Amino acid sequence: AMIGKGNHRHFMLKEIFEQPAVIGDTLHSYLTPATGEIVLPPMPFDVAALPKITIIACGTSFYAAMVAKYWFEQVARVSVEVDVASEFRYREAPMPEGGLGIFISQSGETADTLAALHYCREQKQHIVAIVNVPESSIARESDVVLQTLAGPEIGVASTKAFTCQLATLACMVISFARARGAIDEAEEDRLAFALAHVPAMAAQVLNHDEAIRDLAHAIFEKRDVLYLGRGTGYPLALEGALKLKEISYIHAEGYASGEMKHGPIALIDEEVPVIVIAPTDRWFDKTVSNMREVMARGGKVIFLSDVTGVDAVGEDAFAAIELPSVDPFVAPLLYAIPVQLLAYHVAVLKGTDVDQPRNLAKSVTVE
Ligand code: G6P
Repeated sequence: AMIGKGNHRHFMLKEIFEQPAVIGDTLHSYLTPATGEIVLPPMPFDVAALPKITIIACGTSFYAAMVAKYWFEQVARVSVEVDVASEFRYREAPMPEGGLGIFISQSGETADTLAALHYCREQKQHIVAIVNVPESSIARESDVVLQTLAGPEIGVASTKAFTCQLATLACMVISFARARGAIDEAEEDRLAFALAHVPAMAAQVLNHDEAIRDLAHAIFEKRDVLYLGRGTGYPLALEGALKLKEISYIHAEGYASGEMKHGPIALIDEEVPVIVIAPTDRWFDKTVSNMREVMARGGKVIFLSDVTGVDAVGEDAFAAIELPSVDPFVAPLLYAIPVQLLAYHVAVLKGTDVDQPRNLAKSVTVE
């Protein structure tokens, strides 16, 4: 069937706005909201005995992998390695027999990711695929397929597929944590219910669309933009920067906030907008102090947080977008949305071809 843009000017905007619904669809294939019960398809290996997890992907899917690394390590207490497929496939990494390889791909056809999967097979890993297209090559060659129910994604820059990947990974993390005895029932319930609320919270975040569109005016003529975050906010910073460069062609960099003093702080002046991703998680205070270092050098801070008052940001922040207060576990699913919207509105102001940015392809099936 033909897929239309509905009332939206671009597929990308339509897909951003679909997120409350498709995150819900994806969650509900594993999670019963009323009870908080999470059931994954049976895994053909003993989750409690897994020596190691390796997560491989490209592009935006790789940033979902990075978020999942923090989750699997902290919540399920299993050691995780992540890499981009194009590096991993040639690294000749030794892998412990009986480990798990997780392959994340919207299309399920990315050539480097598929090649990395073949390598993991040779290394006697179990293979789980998280794909949006269940009849894809990566799905076919995996032991277990967890399908994201994002629906067809047309915009070249991935949006809803990313948050649906995160939703799937979050269910997997909770289920693995339980199987490994890393969390008790109360903790499991807390995380599952936080997850069950994400669709409603995502709808609230979308209400900031107009404020973010206004903010885009302050960015679209800039040459460089910096994104900062810590913990799971770090991959979100990388994803925010990727979205912006993909569709607006503005140079953008994502950085771990604590690493800023080792280089990018040299770039800061009045002309550099700095997007700070700062949910109130265990890293919040440190992120805020990094942000103050930016403001002290004249940097134009755009603060994304659930606490945006003067106490948190001082009076020097250029702008703040207030997100709902949620369990830090689920924050990455919500903070994805403002960075998508910001990239979108900047690109529209610049007049680029938002859905078909130059030089990029939706699915990269050659090396
Ligand atoms: C291309 C797309 C990106 C996507 C990446 C990985 O570069 O433009 O949006 O994140 O491929 O694609 P996959 O289908 O494997 O998730």
